[in-house]
Amino acid sequence: MDGYNVAVVGATGAVGTRMIQMLEESKLPIASVKYLASKRSAGKVLKFKGADVVVEELVPDSFNNINLALFSAGGGVSKKFAPEAVKRGAVVVDNTSAFRMEEGVPLVVPEVNEDALYKHKGLIANPNCSTIQMVVALEPLREVYGLKKVIVTTMQAVSGAGNRAIQELHDETQAILNGEEYEPQVLPVSGDKKHYQIAFNPLAQIDVFEDDGYSHEEWKMIHETKKIMADQDLQVTATCVRVPVAVAHSEAVWFELEKDGADVAKLQSILKTAPGVVLQDDPKNQIYPQAVNAEGKKDTFVGRIRADKEQANSFHLYCVSDNLLKGAAWNSVQIAERLHALNLMRVPD
Ligand SMILES: NC(=O)c1ccc[n+]([C@@H]2O[C@H](COP(=O)([O-])OP(=O)(O)OC[C@H]3O[C@@H](n4cnc5c(N)ncnc54)[C@H](OP(=O)(O)O)[C@@H]3O)[C@@H](O)[C@H]2O)c1
Repeated sequence: MDGYNVAVVGATGAVGTRMIQMLEESKLPIASVKYLASKRSAGKVLKFKGADVVVEELVPDSFNNINLALFSAGGGVSKKFAPEAVKRGAVVVDNTSAFRMEEGVPLVVPEVNEDALYKHKGLIANPNCSTIQMVVALEPLREVYGLKKVIVTTMQAVSGAGNRAIQELHDETQAILNGEEYEPQVLPVSGDKKHYQIAFNPLAQIDVFEDDGYSHEEWKMIHETKKIMADQDLQVTATCVRVPVAVAHSEAVWFELEKDGADVAKLQSILKTAPGVVLQDDPKNQIYPQAVNAEGKKDTFVGRIRADKEQANSFHLYCVSDNLLKGAAWNSVQIAERLHALNLMRVPD
């Protein structure tokens, strides 16, 4: 084969545009690309490695002759069109929450559970952005010491809610600085009843609320972590907060290890060489991860590792990663690279 025919669904979006950038940088053999979006963007011209590519309206037959389809156009679009793509022989990597918890659908972060790819039936789910960076940071420690419990508080960038949310943060901040009125329309959740100011104002709501008071984002972090780590006994809880940052999520993670013997130096030494992790942990020299430095990078930056002084085998860490790259586009393209390397880029019979 000369290369894969690749479709990007949601090519004009915050994730889709990064998906294109990641494909351009990837060593994946690519014969052609097709950019798909809604009717609104059909006819728009985007680039691939310098050449013009005209955005097409998504229809089921868009997937004829496609080998790989990367979806990031919302859960409803994935539910409707991902099965159409698989039916036509394309392997789908889906960025939405549509299939993540479905039995038989691998939910993959290559640094953590690449082996799950062997079981794919044509569709692989990309986890939630906030979950990905946390499991990349915790998995190397879990491999050595086991993991019993995780309590995470997130500080998530507005780009997690798409291009309209980035625009709202910019416009609203500008309006407030100018002393003008601004009517929020997107955040915290575009489809929810009320909208609140995000500029200069963190919001403790990401996605809609469940009946038990947890937000759906918190629910995703809890259940996706258990699925990715294949450990239903792992105790996980989360508080997810949207902060006035454009790109890159930050997370304060408290965790309890199963085995004795860990200390800060040992955890630092494990993370120094862990795949996908960059250790930035030198408080004396004020070195710790920052969102502005993580933007545009594929890694997860980890620092502020401290022992819990009140409880044995328990620690804190702080991790930061570009939600649009490792949290979405890069993780998807990385999955595609691994499918290629493992000779799994095909829909099984
Ligand atoms: N942002 C993140 O950090 C992140 C991380 C992980 C997963 N995700 C998921 O990825 C998806 C997209 O997120 P985003 O942040 O990129 O949103 P976005 O910036 O709002 O972009 C949405 C994309 O979907 C396309 N689209 C919308 N409705 C469509 C339809 N009916 N048919 C075909 N295309 C349609 C849009 O095309 P038009 O230009 O035609 O409107 C656009 O390309 C969401 O499901 C989100 O949950 C996002």
